[in-house]
Amino acid sequence: MNVHRVTSEESPAEGFETDSKTASMAAVKVVPAPNSRLLRRFAQLRQVLRDTTMRQAGAASAPTNKKDPTRASIFFLHGEAHRSRRAAIIRFFTPKAIATRHMPVMERAAEALTAEFRAKGRGRLDELSLRLSAAVAAEIVGMTNSNIDAMARRIEGSSRATQAAKGGIWVWIAKFMQAFYGLQVFYLDVKPAIAARRKERQEDVISRLLDEGRSDQEILVECMTFGLAGMTTTREFIVVAAWHLFDNKPLRQRFLDGDDGEKMAILMEILRLEPVAGMIYRSIGEETQGLADEALPAGTRLSLHIRKANLDEADVGPDPTRLDPDRAKRLKSNGAYMSFGDGEHFCPGWQVALGETRVFLDKLLRVPGIRLTKPPDMGWDPPMLQSYVLRNAIIECDRG
Ligand code: HEM
Repeated sequence: MNVHRVTSEESPAEGFETDSKTASMAAVKVVPAPNSRLLRRFAQLRQVLRDTTMRQAGAASAPTNKKDPTRASIFFLHGEAHRSRRAAIIRFFTPKAIATRHMPVMERAAEALTAEFRAKGRGRLDELSLRLSAAVAAEIVGMTNSNIDAMARRIEGSSRATQAAKGGIWVWIAKFMQAFYGLQVFYLDVKPAIAARRKERQEDVISRLLDEGRSDQEILVECMTFGLAGMTTTREFIVVAAWHLFDNKPLRQRFLDGDDGEKMAILMEILRLEPVAGMIYRSIGEETQGLADEALPAGTRLSLHIRKANLDEADVGPDPTRLDPDRAKRLKSNGAYMSFGDGEHFCPGWQVALGETRVFLDKLLRVPGIRLTKPPDMGWDPPMLQSYVLRNAIIECDRG
């Protein structure tokens, strides 16, 4: 098992050893937004995220329609507008919906990808994981009237465009590329899905948005939100979880031998150390006491350091940088800690993400002779969620 040594402030102490694979890069890359107040204690993040007067303040946090912000993506809504949008979609994320509708999709997609990998004897883990997460998210959203793999590439192109925006002319090129991929998703994926659901509603997000009278463009924005929030995050998580399980034989065996609860505990503990969203942002809506020594005025921007909150000994217990799948059970807590956020924007897809990762890795790691022949190259996606980006991980197996 690899032990990583982190030499900056990512860990509680300088030179502290950590089991996290992404910590050393995060230590350099995760920086607070300009002119913002950085919060890193678990309790502080919980207070902010559960406070309904707070507002989204991410890098691109502009409602899509400034005249009528209630028509923005769910991500940027708050108060009653957020509650009613959330109520319309939450039925697709209940344990029953996951067990009866999404689980068969996960099983089928995981089975097909594993069989394809076995037949070839070689594959790219990040490609397989994107295709899996795209198939699952597409089913929930209702983007099922076009080729799923091609759609995944288009949505990924849009997120790659934002990663390329380093400044100067690149910002404009990135905007153009984002619009280019956005248009492709609109015409090739969203439009056909809307047309099919205008004829006949189905059990998915697009059908509910049509019931609410949303325009095609507003539906596109929500589809991109789910695409980016659901596909790209889960893709990175599957790769990092597989990387841990390949490198740590006893952990892999425990995962393969364990029941569903045990598998989930292992995955959540990996996610605690490797939160895909490293930092999220809010701005204070009304003067707030108790977050800092002094009252913070309305308008103050807050950078919420999820990675650090997940290492806060006060909440996650001793040896916070160690991967310990029994931690949450011992502390009687939710094992993912802040990795899916908290409060009104708490990730509705958390069980979906963990479920598909569990199902896929359980099949993949049982393939005879499977091995990781090249660990992923690590990049960073600062504009979005301050997330690691893991690419070109090669796996091989005995051909079946
Ligand atoms: C490992 C995978 C995932 C991670 C780490 C993750 C993380 C997060 C986090 C941290 C937030 C809160 C953001 C904030 O408060 O600013 C969030 C929100 C959200 N996530 Fe996830 N997510 C994952 C998978 C998914 C999946 C599979 C879906 C759907 C298919 C999904 C859909 C959403 C949506 C729609 C929101 C916005 C909810 C709202 O604003 O009310 N996520 N996610």
